[in-house]
Amino acid sequence: MAQPRVSRHGEWSSRWVFILAATGSAVGLGNIWKFPYITGEHGGGAFVLIYLLCVALVGLPVMMAEILLGRRGRQSPMNTMRLLAEEAGASPRWAWVGWCGVLAGFLILSYYSVIAGWALAYVVRMASGIFIGADGQLAQAVFERFLADPEAVLGWHTLFMVMTMVVVARGVRGGLEQAVRLLMPALFLLLLLLVGYAMTTGAFDQGLRFLFNPDFSRLDPAAVLVAMGHAFFTLSLGMGAIMIYGSYMPQRASIAGASLAIAVADTLVALLAGMAIFPVVYANGLEPGAGPGLLFQTLPVAFGQMPAGVLFGTLFFVLVVFAAWTSAISLIEPAVTWLVENRGVRRLTACLWAGVATWLLGIGTVLSFNLWKEFTLFGLNFFGLLDFLTANLMLPLGGLAIALFVGWVMRERDVAEELALKGGLYRLWRWVLRYVTPVAVGIVFLHSVELI
Ligand code: PHE
Repeated sequence: MAQPRVSRHGEWSSRWVFILAATGSAVGLGNIWKFPYITGEHGGGAFVLIYLLCVALVGLPVMMAEILLGRRGRQSPMNTMRLLAEEAGASPRWAWVGWCGVLAGFLILSYYSVIAGWALAYVVRMASGIFIGADGQLAQAVFERFLADPEAVLGWHTLFMVMTMVVVARGVRGGLEQAVRLLMPALFLLLLLLVGYAMTTGAFDQGLRFLFNPDFSRLDPAAVLVAMGHAFFTLSLGMGAIMIYGSYMPQRASIAGASLAIAVADTLVALLAGMAIFPVVYANGLEPGAGPGLLFQTLPVAFGQMPAGVLFGTLFFVLVVFAAWTSAISLIEPAVTWLVENRGVRRLTACLWAGVATWLLGIGTVLSFNLWKEFTLFGLNFFGLLDFLTANLMLPLGGLAIALFVGWVMRERDVAEELALKGGLYRLWRWVLRYVTPVAVGIVFLHSVELI
């Protein structure tokens, strides 16, 4: 076996810490905020089914491939891709996969931070008790009033960006480990509590039916693309986040086992969030297709009606912020490692550059919910465009490139050695990665432009 490389940025202290950190990256706003609202917008069950299929058939195999690349290269995604392409006798242009990923991470973080800022603002609103006894109308009004105030939204966005860059500046292996170990289980428990509450609303069945009864007549072609894009988004795939985390993974840990654990945990959190939210939607005459505000207009009603709701509600939004925080860190880490490796700057300087640029772009998202609301292109505002471009195009294309590289370009000996997976399972994975994943991504792309 070739001598394994060592990352100059350090290593996770154990396999378990890698799983926690990668789960921290995967579980975030995508699960709690985005999954419910896009499910609501695209008609429920059928959309959920396609999303689950994409997680299993595309997400899981690509996650294994991406971690494998990271651990083999042990550098920033660009340098890893260049190095591994060289080793395989392929073009150094594969480094572009890394570049596109860094760009995608930067674009995503710019709006991700704004939404995380909403959650921060809701910690304070929840604690103030204004939602006690609230109905759907009040919750909606509070949310709309908040969004209409660009300065407030900008303030919270700024705070969240600072929080993120402080952790990244200190190196992701420090505080992250403790935070994830404690907060992920807490988030999970609170979601269970919310599902428990949802059972008492009288609309639990209706909510579940919406989520799990596939009605394909409500599925438009665009929805299929959104579902696939979301599988990449929610698992943090296609942009180098999981690759860079994989580059800190101990050599002996099992990539397949870790990937499965991460994907299962991530999916469970999303489904629980859906099960908590939709019954509240139906019980309170709210609109499932309310869009990005859905989480913020529904759960305050639930907390407003349950005993000790102020406490639980505040805690819930604190945990949402933490979940977003651990994801945000991974969105910018590839860019920072590259600046350190190739520009020779210190980590702190790299963080400043990356942080300020992301913060600036985030202002566009802040304004797209108030002053720039009217400016749309293809029916999408600034935030919508960024989201579409990254989640629905850049991440699936990045994932496709990763699947093709590992499946067809890399030397099989290297792939097998790094993955260290036995017999039948290995062959199944390789076959899915070479054929099923690329064909599935291709079909979804063609289908969404209504060619098939
Ligand atoms: N997976 C994160 C979420 O669901 C978002 C994310 C996407 C993080 C891509 C890193 C890379 O919230």
